[in-house]
Amino acid sequence: MMKGIGLSFVRIGEFAWSRLEPSEGAYRFEWLSLAIEALDRAGLKVVLGTPTATPPKWLVDKMPEMAALDADGRPRRFGSRRHYCFSHEGYAQECERIVELLARAFGGHPAVAAWQTDNEYGCHDTVLSYSPAALQAFRRWCEAKYRSIETLNEAWGNVFWSMDYRSFDEIELPNLTVTEANPSHLMDFQRFSSDQVVAFNRRQAQIIRRHAPDATILHNFMGAFVDFDHYALSDDLDVAAWDSYPLGFLERSSHDDAFKLRYMRVGDPDFQAFHHDHYRACGRGRWQVMEQQPGPVNWAPWNPAPAKGAVRLWTFEAFAAGAETVSYFRWRQAPFAQEQMHEALLLPNAAPNDAYHDVARISEELAMLDARVETARAEVALVFDYESAWAWRIEPQGRDFSYFDLVMGFYRALRRAGLSVDVVPPTAAAIADRTLILVPALFAPSHDFAEALAQSGATILLPADLPPGVLRRIIDIRVRRVESLRPGARITLSGHGAFLRWREFLALGESVAPEFTSEDGETALARSENVFYLAGWPDEELLNNMLRHVAHVAGISTLDLTEDIRVRDNGAMRYIFNYGAASTDISALVGEETLLIGERLLEPCGVAVFRRRDCFQRAAQNTSQDATTK
Ligand code: GAL
Repeated sequence: MMKGIGLSFVRIGEFAWSRLEPSEGAYRFEWLSLAIEALDRAGLKVVLGTPTATPPKWLVDKMPEMAALDADGRPRRFGSRRHYCFSHEGYAQECERIVELLARAFGGHPAVAAWQTDNEYGCHDTVLSYSPAALQAFRRWCEAKYRSIETLNEAWGNVFWSMDYRSFDEIELPNLTVTEANPSHLMDFQRFSSDQVVAFNRRQAQIIRRHAPDATILHNFMGAFVDFDHYALSDDLDVAAWDSYPLGFLERSSHDDAFKLRYMRVGDPDFQAFHHDHYRACGRGRWQVMEQQPGPVNWAPWNPAPAKGAVRLWTFEAFAAGAETVSYFRWRQAPFAQEQMHEALLLPNAAPNDAYHDVARISEELAMLDARVETARAEVALVFDYESAWAWRIEPQGRDFSYFDLVMGFYRALRRAGLSVDVVPPTAAAIADRTLILVPALFAPSHDFAEALAQSGATILLPADLPPGVLRRIIDIRVRRVESLRPGARITLSGHGAFLRWREFLALGESVAPEFTSEDGETALARSENVFYLAGWPDEELLNNMLRHVAHVAGISTLDLTEDIRVRDNGAMRYIFNYGAASTDISALVGEETLLIGERLLEPCGVAVFRRRDCFQRAAQNTSQDATTK
C-alpha cells in the first residue's frame, strides 16, 4: 500500500526501547530486522529512529536519579515520554550503548538510508532540568566559561543583592528563588542547557556515523520552539527535519479567535513556510518535513479536520521551499494509548483515510512536474537568533513580548509582499550576498556580525533593540529610553500604522534622519543611507507599509497579494497557494506562462506551479551550486 501511493521512506523504531531490550541486556532485534526486510523487499527505504526519547521502566528504576526535575524540584516521572535529564551521565552512557548496538546491527543495511536521533528534543518542556546532575554539570560549565569566580561575579553583577559566590561549587541553579533570579544567571543556565542538548545529540551522531558512514543523520525539530540552539545542534546533522502540524500549531498560537476561526482548517498561511525557510538554513540547504499532519490530531485545545486539499497544499508548500522529503505522521491510527484520537493515512482498521488519497495524488503530480527542487538563495534575509529568544523571555519588560511572534510578524509582512525569504542566524556567512537584511530585536550582536553588516552593502532594517551597542557603527543613534505598553495602548505614526507593546526614544547622530515620525513627535524609523532603525514593535499596518518602503529602497519589487494568496519563487519555479475559502483569479501573478499544475481560477487550498521565463538565467546559476534532486 505504501509503495502504491508513491511513498519512498518509512520511519520506524523511534520509541521502541522496551521492545528492543525488554529487560537489561536481553536484546530482541529480530522483529526490527523483519520489518526492515519487509520494507526493503517492497522497495522502500527506512529512516531508523534511536529509541532514546523513551527509556524503559527497568532502566528508570535502575537509576531513578536520571529523571529531570522541574522548576519546583519535582521529578518528571515514567509513564509518557522524554523522562530523562540531558545532564545525567549514566543515562547518556545507556543511550550510547543502545545506539551502538543498533548502529552495529543495522548501520550497514542498504535499506537503512537515514537515522533519526531521539525524537523532538525538548518537547513537553524538557530542556531545562533542575536536577543534581544538572547542578554539577552547570558548575563545571560556568568554570570552563569564566575560569575564575570573580569573573563570573563581575559578569553576572552578583554584587547586586549580595549574590557573590566564593567558588564554582557554591553556584546554585536559578529556580526556587524568593523573587526573580538574576537574568545573567538565567541566561547562562539557558545557554548551558542548550549546550547539553547539543552534546547529547552529538554522542549519538558520532556513533551512527562510525557504523553508517553513508547514511543521512537527521533530527525532527518542532515548530515555534526555541528552547535550545537549533543551528548549533544541526552542525552534527546532515539534514534538519521538522514536524509540521498546521492546525495544532494554529490552535496553540497567540492569534485571536477571529484568525483561528478563519484558518482553522488550513492553518496559518505563513507559519509552515517560516519554518521551512528556517530549517533550510539550519540544515545548510538540506531539510525536510518528518511529520506532516494528515488529519485531526489529539493534542491541541481543539482538533479540527483539515479542509479538503489542505494536506496537498501543505505538502507543496514544503516541496516549493526545497524539502527533500515530506513524510506523514502516521501511517496507521493506533487504537490504543495516548494518541488513539490522532488520525493517520490509514484508519485503525487499515482502510484508507482521506490523506491517503491526497498522498496518491501528490505523488502523481510530482512525477508529472519532474520537479528539480531548488534551494535558491533568497535576496532577503531575516535574522532569527536563539539567544535573543531566551533574552526576551528571561527579561521581557512587557508581559506579551514574544521574540518568536515579533520575527514571525516580519516574516508574514514579507510574504504578504510576495517576497521569498531565508530565515538565518546572525553570522557573516548567512547574510553575505543579500539585498535586504532584517534584524529584529537582536539581543547581543557580535562584533563580527556588526562588521559583516557594515560591509554587506545591503539595505538593512534594525528593528527595536536596546541601545545599539556594536551596531552603532552602522547607524549613529542612541536609545535614550524604552517603554513597554499595555494591551490597547498604541503610538500612532501619521498614515503608517502604529507601535504596540514596545517603543524606544532615539537620539540621532548627524548622519541620521527620521524617515517616519510618530504623532507625538519622536523618530519612529531612523535612516542613515541604506540602514534603517525601527524604534518599536510595529502593528501589522506599519509592518506592511514599512517593509514595502524598505524593499523599494533596496530595489526589490514587491507584489500586491490578496490576503489569502501566497507566492514562492524558487529558482525558475513560481508556486502560488490559496489559503482562502474562495476561488481567486491569479492571472496577474501568472502572466503569459503555462501552468504545470493548477488553474488560473485557483480553488480553495489550490496550488499552481509554473516555470518563469524571466528567471531562466538566474536559476541556472543557482542550481549549479545548490540543487537537490528528488
Ligand atoms: C510529535 C511526535 C510524534 C507524535 C506526534 C503527534 O510531537 O514526534 O511522536 O507524538 O507529535 O502529533
